[in-house]
Amino acid sequence: MSQTSPTRTLTPDQRSELRSLAAAAAQHSYSPYSHFRVGSALLLTNGAIVAGCNVENCSYRLTSCAEQGAIARAVAEHGPGIRLVAVAVANLNNSASMPCGACRQTLTEFGDDSTLILYPGENGAPEETTLGELIPHAFRLEFLK
Ligand code: THU
Repeated sequence: MSQTSPTRTLTPDQRSELRSLAAAAAQHSYSPYSHFRVGSALLLTNGAIVAGCNVENCSYRLTSCAEQGAIARAVAEHGPGIRLVAVAVANLNNSASMPCGACRQTLTEFGDDSTLILYPGENGAPEETTLGELIPHAFRLEFLK
């Protein structure tokens, strides 16, 4: 983790705001199968915040997670050069949850080991970790030579 890592400069207020925006996005969740309403909010290095929610599908496997929806929206709105400072995940089910394995790989494409991950722990307690902790030894773009 570098000395200038944005993770270290995110204030408690910024953390709370990102968690709130993730929860707000979860209000739009399309989840008629799992009824698990998830939202995600991304803080980009350009200062923008982009949110998304899970969108399920009757084929089940075509379901898009909240984090994946937020990433697609962020690229569409801000271009392919986006980088992630922080990612908040929230759900409206009063459940602990964090990015699934597929989302960890998706976030790795635009984040780094120091990208802050904010998620709800047991009893909704605000927890945090880093992308490097969630997906060590990730497959990365630079391997494609
Ligand atoms: N889900 C997310 O949106 N993000 C995750 O990281 C974990 C799972 C969604 C997918 C599905 O719509 C529901 O939660 C139950 O798995």
